[in-house]
Amino acid sequence: MKKNIVITGVSSGIGRDALRLLHHKGYHIYGSVRKEADAKSLTEAYPKGFTPLIFDVQDQEAVTKAAKIVFDSCDRIDALINNAGIAVPGPLQCVSEADFEKQMDVNLKSVRRITNTFLPLLGAAPDFKGAPGRIINISSISGLFNAPFNGVYSISKHALESMTDVYRRELRRYGIKVMAIEPGPIKTKIWGKNLNSMKPFADTDYNDILQKANQMIENTEKKALPVTRTSTVILKCITKKHPKTRYIVHKNTFIFKIVANYLPDKLVDWFIYRSLSKGNRHRPV
Ligand SMILES: NC(=O)c1ccc[n+]([C@@H]2O[C@H](COP(=O)([O-])OP(=O)(O)OC[C@H]3O[C@@H](n4cnc5c(N)ncnc54)[C@H](OP(=O)(O)O)[C@@H]3O)[C@@H](O)[C@H]2O)c1
Repeated sequence: MKKNIVITGVSSGIGRDALRLLHHKGYHIYGSVRKEADAKSLTEAYPKGFTPLIFDVQDQEAVTKAAKIVFDSCDRIDALINNAGIAVPGPLQCVSEADFEKQMDVNLKSVRRITNTFLPLLGAAPDFKGAPGRIINISSISGLFNAPFNGVYSISKHALESMTDVYRRELRRYGIKVMAIEPGPIKTKIWGKNLNSMKPFADTDYNDILQKANQMIENTEKKALPVTRTSTVILKCITKKHPKTRYIVHKNTFIFKIVANYLPDKLVDWFIYRSLSKGNRHRPV
């Protein structure tokens, strides 16, 4: 029987590598892209076992239209991977209303819209037959830990963590498992997209710190993990009989958990302030 997976944002990074691994494991991948050119090049790379879905996650009409392709070709999907995302940087005080809203819409609200669209194929339907599917939300360690000047992104991922728990508890009646993956820095285009992103805030009181932003991004990216690390965890979420509800993907998960959960807030505040004023790291882990 054909095994099917829907992944949002397969044009690059974590989504693209998940497509590579899951396709290799024999799943038929319905992968979302925004550009025709990406659909074409991926179809050339994967002539069999891949169907491109073209939509912007912010556009429900386009999502519904693309979802029809999946509904018309299969009775169920094994998993939905909500991966598409962006990172809107800047001081919380200065980020525009429009950018704040865009961050929430892409990283959070769209996850609910897309999940609700595909729920009948995952098992939330009265006449559903077969094993229920799984929902995997690509969150971030920023969903567990708040770094300054990355705050809008952190807020969106914290809310995504919450959405993951709510869906898991509500969808339990259908047997649908819902998980979050929380990667630390992973080598993808997301870092390059944010180089020079602090320029609009040059006239603000934060300029002394923000001047170091490019250096901070480059330093973090240098130490980032390869994208294959997230793909391995995604596969585990899909195949393990009893998967955990959340998986951190980090160079040093143990230290991260201690800093995020056990150190007193005021100590972490002090550490971040000190490292931002003196060095070029934007978070202690
Ligand atoms: N890289 C990291 O260090 C890291 C760490 C933790 C969590 N994450 C999360 O991992 C996910 C993937 O990020 P990535 O690192 O792989 O970055 P990426 O290489 O920039 O990939 C982002 C993907 O999302 C798609 N996308 C963005 N906005 C979209 C929209 N409005 N509609 C549809 N698709 C959209 C992009 O499509 P286009 O090519 O069309 O823009 C691209 O396919 C994100 O949710 C991110 O928050 C990343």
